[in-house]
Amino acid sequence: MSEPKIVVTRRIPEPAVEILREAGDVWVSPDDRPLEVSELHDAISGADVVVTLLHDKVDDAFLDAAGARLRAVCNVAVGFDNIDVPAATKRGVLVTNTPAVLTEATADLAMTLILAVTRRIGEGERLIRSREPWSWHMFMLLGTGLQGKTLGVVGMGAIGQSLARRAKAFGMDIVYSDARQAPAEVEQELGARRVELDELLRTADVVSIHAPLMDETRHLINADTLGLMKESAYLVNSARGPIIDEAALVDALKAGKIAGAGLDVYENEPETHPGLVDLDNVVLLPHLGSATIETRTAMGVLAAENAVLALRGERPKTPVNPEVLEGRS
Ligand code: DGY
Repeated sequence: MSEPKIVVTRRIPEPAVEILREAGDVWVSPDDRPLEVSELHDAISGADVVVTLLHDKVDDAFLDAAGARLRAVCNVAVGFDNIDVPAATKRGVLVTNTPAVLTEATADLAMTLILAVTRRIGEGERLIRSREPWSWHMFMLLGTGLQGKTLGVVGMGAIGQSLARRAKAFGMDIVYSDARQAPAEVEQELGARRVELDELLRTADVVSIHAPLMDETRHLINADTLGLMKESAYLVNSARGPIIDEAALVDALKAGKIAGAGLDVYENEPETHPGLVDLDNVVLLPHLGSATIETRTAMGVLAAENAVLALRGERPKTPVNPEVLEGRS
């Protein structure tokens, strides 16, 4: 019997590839870029497992191109909005993601954005790099302190909770909005209070987005909801770009309706709204939430372990649609 065919759509950390090599014939795209759709479809033809990255669109056309042997799509990301999960489930294809291993790194990054935008770190750095002369004075690049301010966490999952833990250490009060109540011990530990989104937006000094991208959250932050925020408040997003209507955000920032924004993700990633790039009160990062060596290695390894378990017909560690396994037994 021929070895299972495992396709990896873009370079992942070597320890993950080694795990995959034990399980089958591994092809890793040699190009360090997202594959064009036609290239992707050619590459996955006849695959048993495909290890995908968040820029790969997994839809009916992808599943058709892979063919009937496909057992699993293992996404190297916690978010799986790039995957049409119902379409995969319908065909009995398992989908897995990489939760938990990136929680702390992503919360670190969200806190970094909060500090960077409230303390005007980008502006200060740009000033030094401009080589313009400067001298210390009392009113230079004054920012906003966090002590005693309120953080509004939109989406109180693992990453939202980890950010809240950090913010608490900076002296912030925590409110959150989520369809589900956080466990009582988490609320108690963080002193966190669940409120409606409108109230969160009206009261928070910093609003940080940690919700998954779904139909319900697309453009959750739009002209109307931005209009609820305080003029002194900051908006931070390290979840998914399309949760914010970027054009509306640019308008709100230009009109002074909010004080600033820290963004790690974009509506039409990797493009950035040109209006954002021109604004000084915005900190912009290229989707670095999980970008530490340790975390990216752990993400790759978890995806590879999921792939191997799926090939063996066993339950992956972090399945998104475990019901596929019930259908198989
Ligand atoms: C994810 O895992 O969904 C992040 O956006 C990439 O780290």
